[in-house]
Amino acid sequence: MIVNIVFLCIVCCLTQSSNGDSLKESHNFSIDYANNQFIKDGKPFRYVSGAMHYFRVPFQYWPDRMRKMRAAGLNALETYVEWVSHEPQPGSYVFEGNLDIESYLQLAQNFNLSVILRPGPFIDAERDMGGLPFWLMAVDPSIKLRTMDKSYVASVEKWFSVLLPKIKPYLYNNGGPIITVQVENEYGSYSACDRDYTSWLRDLIRKHLGNDVVLFSTDGDGDGYLQCGKIPGVYATVDFGAGANALEAFKPQRHFELAGPRVNSEFYPGWLDLWGEPHSKVDKRDVAKTLDDMLALNASVSMYMFHGGTSFGFTSGALPSNTYTPCITSYDYDAPLNEAGDPTEKYFSIRDVISKYLPLPDFPAPGPNPKAAYGFVHLHYVAHLWDILSTPIAGPLVHSISPLTFEALGQANGYVLYCTKLHGHFPDPALLEIKGLADRAYIYIDMEFVGVLSRSGSLFSIPVQAADNQKLCILVENQGRIAYGSGIKDFKGLTSQVTINGRILVDWTHRPLPFNDTVKLDWLNKLEKKQGFPVKGTLSLFSGSFAIRRNESEMADTFLSLSGWHKGVVFLNGINLGRYWPVQGPQVTLYVPKYFLRAWPSKNRLIILEQDRSPCNENVLDCVVEFVAKPVLDGDTPAKKSSIKLFKKRV
Ligand SMILES: *[C@@H]1O[C@H](CO)[C@@H](O)[C@H](O)[C@H]1NC(C)=O
Ligand SMILES: *[C@@H]1O[C@H](CO)[C@@H](O)[C@H](O)[C@H]1NC(C)=O
Ligand SMILES: *[C@@H]1O[C@H](CO)[C@@H](O)[C@H](O)[C@H]1NC(C)=O
Ligand SMILES: *[C@@H]1O[C@H](CO)[C@@H](O)[C@H](O)[C@H]1NC(C)=O
Ligand SMILES: *[C@@H]1O[C@H](CO)[C@@H](O)[C@H](O)[C@H]1NC(C)=O
Repeated sequence: MIVNIVFLCIVCCLTQSSNGDSLKESHNFSIDYANNQFIKDGKPFRYVSGAMHYFRVPFQYWPDRMRKMRAAGLNALETYVEWVSHEPQPGSYVFEGNLDIESYLQLAQNFNLSVILRPGPFIDAERDMGGLPFWLMAVDPSIKLRTMDKSYVASVEKWFSVLLPKIKPYLYNNGGPIITVQVENEYGSYSACDRDYTSWLRDLIRKHLGNDVVLFSTDGDGDGYLQCGKIPGVYATVDFGAGANALEAFKPQRHFELAGPRVNSEFYPGWLDLWGEPHSKVDKRDVAKTLDDMLALNASVSMYMFHGGTSFGFTSGALPSNTYTPCITSYDYDAPLNEAGDPTEKYFSIRDVISKYLPLPDFPAPGPNPKAAYGFVHLHYVAHLWDILSTPIAGPLVHSISPLTFEALGQANGYVLYCTKLHGHFPDPALLEIKGLADRAYIYIDMEFVGVLSRSGSLFSIPVQAADNQKLCILVENQGRIAYGSGIKDFKGLTSQVTINGRILVDWTHRPLPFNDTVKLDWLNKLEKKQGFPVKGTLSLFSGSFAIRRNESEMADTFLSLSGWHKGVVFLNGINLGRYWPVQGPQVTLYVPKYFLRAWPSKNRLIILEQDRSPCNENVLDCVVEFVAKPVLDGDTPAKKSSIKLFKKRV
């Protein structure tokens, strides 16, 4: 593949330098308003595209997934660009490995997939803060995100001056695969409605990418959304899901674009999942029917998602319905290619529909990749919360009068332990209240577990029995920042004062526990088995190692079942597989791509961070997890599906 990329690059560069005009003629993508269509190289063109985010699929699997997308008859691929992943701290940039977007674009071109690029800067995508960097809130806590706010605009300008020059050579008119570029993202659903901002962003993109590139915007299929979402000089498109009346659903687009092709930029063949609500299912017949209707109208369509992948690590976001609800780790999305990249029945229904309109490539439809059930791994209890506070795992202690947010501490994700000394005489019991909790708090008095508070459960106070000179500690978990709507400025940690019977508690210490550093985590592997049993409600760490009797070429994907465990995070060979919470459901297993595993005779190392209760709190023999061959994404949940979340409301 590397040889191929180099070769293509040389060919492009030669063509470009020797004959710029002939390149323009043979590589020219534009909108033909007179005939309501796109024009590619002088011929009518319509795309049938699928969304796949490079940052949600291990890069080693990009070719596998793209081949399957092509085999379904797709002629284009859509991806967002996630700002915070590329700029995790202000001014420091990452474009390697899974964030090597240039290789991703080149690969798409090698598979004859045109690219629809959605660089944001805001993307939603059920990611932490909709892909915006958390540090924007530290730079200026009063920042107005997605508006002409000075500090916001300055950060966007700087980021796009790094990103867009990398993108420019990959534009179609420059010989690359990118046919269209989106400005902002469903901006009409955002209450700020700052038209100066969207016009400024359009001009910024044009400044870097030139005036030839086709820019577009995407909004819900209602005049109300497009009212704010429409940007002058930017082609307006809509989004809607399976079961819609296609002809009707495209009408709002026509109200704002009197001519030009019909485009559904996010056709939903599935839907997202939230902790505590049943796994989303969208019927393949509804998907096929609506897709067929849209293609019969000559529409261009991008399916969101065609392959969802996984929100590894702490990258998943949350939804802002009535109560804060975090998104699960899997982004299976009930998509045509499932989380592990295997074709589903829906995949073949879609392929049948596409084949009526576009030629299928001359390679066969794919089957599933092999899976393995590697079986049980025994873990040792090695440390608890109070053990790790003065180890390399924890960050430096910070003091302040009032509690500080994660953002003020410069911490993106993970946990912070807040502690203070109690002074005075309290009623028995007294009410501990945390009005601003983001998102889940474990309360301890003199290191003894008292109970849990939770933003998703709207539980913000708890009776405590407190006395003078006792130490109150609160371990706060960040469960993911809100990904869309007016609540995206979602500060984490203790975001207000903490009170006991109305008395404000002061003089706090903060211990950062970001769990973001592989080298430091490895320190846990060196620990001996700890004496005694883990205690419910006290963060406990478990370590285990195992070898797989297979060589490199025999390795296969697997799923880690957390059945019996409560809530936490898993690290495999230093890679954060994501959050688990099987008691809440619906996700019970975590996807483990084979590339995260080591072949024989190397050892694999597993670390589990359990916040609540492990299966071995009483019996060490139960300290196990199991690698299974089949995912469980539809486990029991306390809530029924709430229909209000099925369609994104204007907030
Ligand atoms: C690209 O194609 C459009 C429509 O066919 C045409 O108007 C335009 O001149 C072409 N641009 C170049 C640079 O050839
Ligand atoms: C891409 O298109 C070219 C030209 O039609 C063809 O030779 C090549 O096999 C295609 N590659 C893939 C992966 O479809
Ligand atoms: C679709 O395009 C074809 C070819 O240009 C045209 O004949 C037909 O009327 C179009 N259909 C619709 C519904 O616009
Ligand atoms: C981990 O988070 C801390 C802030 O809590 C930050 O200073 C550090 O750079 C991060 N490390 C990595 C490897 O991301
Ligand atoms: C891996 O093992 C299989 C089965 O034992 C064998 O056929 C194959 O040659 C081995 N591959 C390598 C690269 O060692």
